[in-house]
Amino acid sequence: MVFKAADYIKSKIDFEPEIGIVLGSGLNDLAQKVENPVIIDYKDIPSFPVSTAPGHKGRFVFGTLSGKKVVCMQGRFHFYEGWSTEQIIMPIRVMKLLGVKTLILTNAAGGINLEYNVGDIMVITDHINLTGTNPLIGKNDERFGERFCDMSYAYTPSLISLAQEVAEENDITLKNGVYLGLSGPSYETPAEIRAFRTLGADTVGMSTVFEVIAASHCKMNVLAFSLVTNMAAGVLDKKLTEEEVLEIGALKGEQMQKLIAKTVERL
Ligand code: HPA
Repeated sequence: MVFKAADYIKSKIDFEPEIGIVLGSGLNDLAQKVENPVIIDYKDIPSFPVSTAPGHKGRFVFGTLSGKKVVCMQGRFHFYEGWSTEQIIMPIRVMKLLGVKTLILTNAAGGINLEYNVGDIMVITDHINLTGTNPLIGKNDERFGERFCDMSYAYTPSLISLAQEVAEENDITLKNGVYLGLSGPSYETPAEIRAFRTLGADTVGMSTVFEVIAASHCKMNVLAFSLVTNMAAGVLDKKLTEEEVLEIGALKGEQMQKLIAKTVERL
């Protein structure tokens, strides 16, 4: 299935993307900065899932960003939509087959760290996978990687340093911390958030961890960012809403785009 999808895409594009960018909720706009775009809708790709999450489109945008050949995923797949972990990581493996060496991911997340504020950007240094599952469960596909995949440097240290350097040069405040991944779709309870804080998590969300595990497995370099779209449950005395998540994404997405575009330039 993965190979068929990659072959279809190869028949539509005439270059190899070296960087893959996965865009999170409300952060889709970066794809508009891609020059000479070639758009491939997920629905046209054999065996490819089609996303339904709010704020998500469902297409690949191939082209040039900051002088580099890239592919952007406008719309990713979430466990809470009912997709299998295999379907969720399929695009990552397709990107690998297309030649992608470096994967950049973004997500909207709740802020657990009490020093964070809504609108903050955090480069992810590590994650805690509390989804209760792992996309590599099942027969190992040796064509992609080995059975027991090392996660010690899943978030590539040199890319984290590069992002920090680029942020500083461009007067962008960049936090760094640990992302905790859950299945959703309910948001967390205040008690869960207090527990996650003691576990060492700084942000929480419903994506990213499966994709990063798949990318580590097939030895891609990974750089990932959380945009704090809301403080996590119980931090402030208010309810969490999806509108807030999308609104902050739209408001603060610009800075994240700049950070990614400038980082890509330096890769
Ligand atoms: N929790 C989980 N996922 C999220 C949140 C949150 O508070 N905000 C954006 N995505």
